[in-house]
Amino acid sequence: MSTKANNQDTGVVRGLADVVAANTRLGRVDGVRGRLHYCGYDVIDLAQHATYEETIYLLLHGELPSASQLEAFVRDMVRHRPMNVGHLQLLRALPGAPAPMEALRTVVSAMSATDPSPLDKSRQANLRRAARLIAQMPTVVAAHWRLRQGEEPVGPKDELSHAANFYYMLHGHVPSSLETRILDMCLILMAEHELNASTFAVRVVASTLSDIYAALTAGLGALNGRLHGAANTEVMKMLLEVDHSNDVAGYVRGALAAKRRIMGFGHRVYKTWDPRATFLREVLSQLDHQLPGAHWFLLAEEIQDTVFQYKKLYPNVDFYAAPALYGLGFPMEIFTAFFACARSAGWSAHVLEQYADNRLIRPTTSYVGAAEREYVALEGRG
Ligand code: CMC
Repeated sequence: MSTKANNQDTGVVRGLADVVAANTRLGRVDGVRGRLHYCGYDVIDLAQHATYEETIYLLLHGELPSASQLEAFVRDMVRHRPMNVGHLQLLRALPGAPAPMEALRTVVSAMSATDPSPLDKSRQANLRRAARLIAQMPTVVAAHWRLRQGEEPVGPKDELSHAANFYYMLHGHVPSSLETRILDMCLILMAEHELNASTFAVRVVASTLSDIYAALTAGLGALNGRLHGAANTEVMKMLLEVDHSNDVAGYVRGALAAKRRIMGFGHRVYKTWDPRATFLREVLSQLDHQLPGAHWFLLAEEIQDTVFQYKKLYPNVDFYAAPALYGLGFPMEIFTAFFACARSAGWSAHVLEQYADNRLIRPTTSYVGAAEREYVALEGRG
């Protein structure tokens, strides 16, 4: 019996498509109109007018901060930026050559052992943990990348914003205000997206009352798949390949004929343009002459038109995030880790939301295996 036939017989919803599994006040995706809201605010408004720090605050507290609340929050985040010495030693000692997401997942998991108040289960303590995780993840990613290149980590600079500091710790110099703004927009656009696969994983772990470090470690594991967060790296590989072959139509036709997924296209919920992709595309097209990565953006547009022509697929956020980040000198190997750093805000907010109204997430299966049968001793099994 085929899997599809099984599903008809048993009522299984493959991939839990359209299944409502949680209430949330955080993200709202309207897949028909191509809209995304965080706590009621259109993500495009936030990307245009807010900072990533304001967006984190909004997700964690449900409201945009006042000036004094923002100041205190930023101060707290800055305090949390430096890495624990032991975690830095851990990065240096990791055997093999772990990819950025593997290194990040390992350190995030290890952070629970250095939590300053492990027994405190209060919401306040979890807000502190969320700030610590969100603030420190870019430090881990940048330090690991530099060590991998044979360079010493560059510590955080307190006076820089979250986005500018991320860039600084990676490159060792301060970004321009335009580069900072684009990075900030990318962080905002990727901060939250309701019950995507990684956020679901995060909520499942939180629902067992495991800690926020364990929940985010699960989120990092789920995000790292190429159908989810790792698609951005795959998009850049495609751009490089197509640039080399100089044959966009040939690439797209070949991929579709071979039934290969074209990375950065399609979405479970959006049946139209992903608003984050629309926005990034507009921003990049207005800035193309000012950006070092303009070439990649133009190539991406050509691929997008061709994919739409052959398969009527719309691009998702990863498709335009890839040339944007590459243009800012972010190596493609850390794109997914950048996405994870951005999404740490949404993940943390979902952990808090799950704790606030918790019931263990424990769905069930439809058993399609062998019928009941007698145990056969080893010697009697032929
Ligand atoms: N390339 C080629 N065909 C595609 C693609 C694609 N990128 N996406 C969907 N399709 C086709 C698929 O082959 C199927 O066609 P048919 O009905 O003829 O068999 C149809 O569209 C439906 O696909 P599906 O797999 O049932 O859709 P899904 O909702 O399960 O998958 C997805 C959603 C995002 C996994 C899928 O679109 C995909 O694999 N995209 C490429 C990977 C990607 O860009 N992921 C990033 C997602 S957005 C950011 C994030 O959350 O991480």
